[in-house]
Amino acid sequence: MKPVKKGQNLWRDHYTDKAKKAGFPARSVFKLEEMQKKWKILHPGQKVLDLGCAPGSWLKYASQTVGGSGQVIGIDIQPMEQPDKPNAQFIQGDAFEMDQDFLDRIGRDFDVVLSDMAPNTSGIRNVDALKSAALCDSALATAITVLKPGGTFVCKIFQGEGFDAFIKDVKMYFTKHKIFKPESTRKASREIYVVGWSKKGESHVRT
Ligand SMILES: C[S@@+](CC[C@H](N)C(=O)[O-])C[C@H]1O[C@@H](n2cnc3c(N)ncnc32)[C@H](O)[C@@H]1O
Repeated sequence: MKPVKKGQNLWRDHYTDKAKKAGFPARSVFKLEEMQKKWKILHPGQKVLDLGCAPGSWLKYASQTVGGSGQVIGIDIQPMEQPDKPNAQFIQGDAFEMDQDFLDRIGRDFDVVLSDMAPNTSGIRNVDALKSAALCDSALATAITVLKPGGTFVCKIFQGEGFDAFIKDVKMYFTKHKIFKPESTRKASREIYVVGWSKKGESHVRT
């Protein structure tokens, strides 16, 4: 076994190197790419909201996929440089604090809402799962507010406490859903993605 060097990223693997070579700041791009290849979630001309967008891999991938006639707005609690694509914009902010005024300003006409948000982890499985579920609840609340009827929602969640309740809520607001673990997810990770298709119109939501 090679000795670990100071500052070395122990999680670094071939996906990290592949992402760097392709010009993406994080390996997470391959998870979105897998979902895109499987289901064609993003289309040219769409308006996309990317929650938890830093350091910007999904934002870059989405802006390339929707193209010049589309638009991508990325939000993260951490600072990040503005993307260099004219159809992409970064706004620093907390997903738990997006009030109605803010949502009015970004618009309620999104085709896709993506959330790759992850909490700071404690290492205690149930605590981290509950923190992840809270982020997912806020992403879902935003998605049902800003998505057009028929819109698509993609959300990362940690399996564990809060997972079943979240799936139940996604089922309530979307016509169809799938749970997906990308190949490019680290094997030890408990993260999984939930995709909700075709947001229901208000009259079709049964609470
Ligand atoms: C796994 S990273 C996202 C990677 C990103 N999809 C990419 O491809 O570059 C998770 C992000 O969620 C963000 N996040 C966590 N809690 C948040 C919150 N309350 N509001 C907004 N962003 C949050 C973190 O700051 C972090 O940048």
